[in-house]
Amino acid sequence: MKQLVIEGNRNLTGEIKISGAKNSVVALIPAAILSYEEVTLYNVPNISDTLSLIDILKLLNCNVDYHNDKMIINNKNIENKVITEDLSKKLRASYYFMGALLAKFNYAEIYFPGGCNIGSRPIDFHIKGFEKLGAEVIIDGNKYIFKAKKLKGAKIYLDFASVGATINIMLAAVKAEGTTYISNAAKEPEIVNIATLLNNMGAKITGAGTSEIKIEGVEHLGKGVIDVIPDRIEAGTYVIMGALLGKKLEISGIIEDHIEALLSKLKEMGVDIKVVKDSKIIINAPESLRPINVKTLVFPGFATDLGQPMSVLLTQANGMSIFEETIYENRMGHIKYLQKMGANITLTDRTAIITGPTKLYGTDVVATDLRAGAAMVIAGLIAEGTTYVEEIEHVLRGYENIIEKLTAVGAKIEIIEE
Ligand code: EPZ
Repeated sequence: MKQLVIEGNRNLTGEIKISGAKNSVVALIPAAILSYEEVTLYNVPNISDTLSLIDILKLLNCNVDYHNDKMIINNKNIENKVITEDLSKKLRASYYFMGALLAKFNYAEIYFPGGCNIGSRPIDFHIKGFEKLGAEVIIDGNKYIFKAKKLKGAKIYLDFASVGATINIMLAAVKAEGTTYISNAAKEPEIVNIATLLNNMGAKITGAGTSEIKIEGVEHLGKGVIDVIPDRIEAGTYVIMGALLGKKLEISGIIEDHIEALLSKLKEMGVDIKVVKDSKIIINAPESLRPINVKTLVFPGFATDLGQPMSVLLTQANGMSIFEETIYENRMGHIKYLQKMGANITLTDRTAIITGPTKLYGTDVVATDLRAGAAMVIAGLIAEGTTYVEEIEHVLRGYENIIEKLTAVGAKIEIIEE
């Protein structure tokens, strides 16, 4: 069993360069199969989700050349195959092959996706969208079969601005006959990154990044090239570490607008943050932190994926803070481990009342999901003594080279195998 071992209470100084965004690359890779020609992705993070998607591409007989952070995908010999249960279950984003294969072959067979256990996470909005485009959806146990004679453009209103449903419907609609409108679409930056690649390949998508997206179907999609945007959640996680332990800690390769909600909350707490040319942040931990209230929302609101890391920071504020999770019904699994480390938190359903500052003490904790794992790493970095984090596979799914990056700025963190 692998464990992360963290010695706490060491300042962080130096530079951390942010990698490509997990939640973008996991949609860009399936999107690439829409072309019979070569698609090149730059700034591809070497994380386990990327490797799981490469396994799916290989199953579909695609040729993949991935070196350093460059990936060339060649689909000229692609075959439509059932995406097996074990591959589907490895990650949530396997569901993007539903939209991509449906658009390419008018047929897709795939199992229910995996992903973090942070709620029931149904895919009803995706299915409703595919049905609106004219697909027949057959649910056979936890396997889904999607088939259509010809997909046709449609007006689709999303009951909730779902990231996954917006992207999956966009993938299915790019080659549909006629025009599709997605209303109440999600506005996350990753959606703009996917639309940019598809437009580079010859699609006609307008309005990505707004709540009204228009997709005029095209016959053919060709070569494509794209840079994966920086990972705003990885950036936010390191910025939060800087607010606690930073001594001139530099976080580079970011896009300031993508983490604006976080930066404004940190300034409210009294954290000294300098932004250099919109792409680099220099952060110093203040003597004391002011308490604040945080509520997670869809973009451009405070990201739910930064909620768990942020709750650790709130344990060190002078006074009472209220942290509320509004997107997922079961994303507070990390709280009991923060309490075990000494935090003063009262949890009611999705709201945590956090009173600080409290000293945290190193102990055995578990990464219950990806961002809960990030929260455990942050707690371990500020704790007195040694923290042992189990189930670290969750963390490695979304943070490229986290050990190397943190060690380079002065942290004492390693993986041990027992
Ligand atoms: C994406 O998940 C991200 N994952 C999540 O990041 C992120 O938390 C989420 O967007 C919100 O920002 C990837 O991009 C791979 P949603 P997704 O559809 O697309 C409900 C991380 O830590 N819903 O916007 O699955 C759903 O249950 C991960 O990197 C339905 O009810 O999120 C949730 O409560 C975790 N029916 C809410 O909407 C549907 O058909 C938002 O989900 C779809 C969603």
